[in-house]
Amino acid sequence: MEENSRKEDCKVNTSKSILDYETVALDEEENALVIIDQTLLPNKTELIRLKTAQEIWDAIYLLKVRGAPAIGVAAAFGIYVLANQVDTEDYGLFYQEFVKQKEYLDSARPTAVNLSWALNRMDEVCRKNSHLPVAQLKHRLKEEAAAIKEEDIQVCRKIGEYGLELVKPGDGILTHCNAGQLAACRYGTATAPVYLGQEKGYQFRVFADETRPLLQGARLTAYELFSSGVDVTLICDNMSAAVMKNGWINAVFVGCDRVAANGDTANKIGTSVVAAVAKQYHVPFYVCAPTSTIDLATPTGEEIRIEQRPADEVTQMWYKERMAPEGIKVYNPAFDVTDHELITAIVTEYGVARAPFTESLRELFERKQNIKQ
Ligand code: MRU
Repeated sequence: MEENSRKEDCKVNTSKSILDYETVALDEEENALVIIDQTLLPNKTELIRLKTAQEIWDAIYLLKVRGAPAIGVAAAFGIYVLANQVDTEDYGLFYQEFVKQKEYLDSARPTAVNLSWALNRMDEVCRKNSHLPVAQLKHRLKEEAAAIKEEDIQVCRKIGEYGLELVKPGDGILTHCNAGQLAACRYGTATAPVYLGQEKGYQFRVFADETRPLLQGARLTAYELFSSGVDVTLICDNMSAAVMKNGWINAVFVGCDRVAANGDTANKIGTSVVAAVAKQYHVPFYVCAPTSTIDLATPTGEEIRIEQRPADEVTQMWYKERMAPEGIKVYNPAFDVTDHELITAIVTEYGVARAPFTESLRELFERKQNIKQ
């Protein structure tokens, strides 16, 4: 069992920082996926153990675990937990059940490609090891999920190193949503340059958009950066132009849920507004993207499926009482697509890609392929 997923951690431990908890872990003893219930942050830190397909699906759909990389890692451990419960020695029966559960988990959220990316990696382990006894295959699945998690940490660190080269000590950085440690396993993507800079004493001033309607910026980004001693200022989503016009922002770093082959990028709703404002004020706009989030099979942003969420997230979820007329029409897409023309560069674990992205992203994948061989 991993260190921070022990049962006693379920109790609130006030001496621990939020960054001391693992976003996603496996409890081998109980055969459970362990996550921080992010819907309760910052007021309550609660680890929850998920054992059934319904619990895991709900946790992803309800954003108890969220952020593209963390969703991928949760799906990998989640499908392992479910596969481990399949009681048969027959590969055919085992794989049939595996595929059923995989497809179910994959339906939880449509935009973050890491969900299907991680599940497909797990599927490949099954197909490549169909000759093994089922018990050994289960072991291989556990190893693969652990590898996906470990890789995420290394990848985020590399993104941080490349991102750090794009800024200088004392810079003002704006970010939208939460692409922090809580959205990954360590460092985050958009926050990785900030955390690595902090290790070097760079004294960044970070501005975190609150990120309506689910407040990932206020509840998660502001919380995790503040807890780790970063100079962070919370702003409402409609303030990015004001802070950029004031000259307080030297760079924007955001995460992403899916990058299309031409560089169009889906990220939390409101990201494309920030990108347009950044262009207006000549502030570089950087997308931090693990290659697991880059989907060369999707040609442009037009083809990215955008998740639509329930109306009550906008009208009442975060208020003591309803804040919109009963019966009002609500449009609540979870993500928007930032046109590649608005993106200065895409920062990956294999380097920084710049326009034209169709070529630079393809080259990046070639480099990845060569390094892997
Ligand atoms: O709806 P969420 O909270 O899952 O949205 C998360 C984001 O949009 C993040 O910016 C993105 O997943 C990148 S996380 C490194």
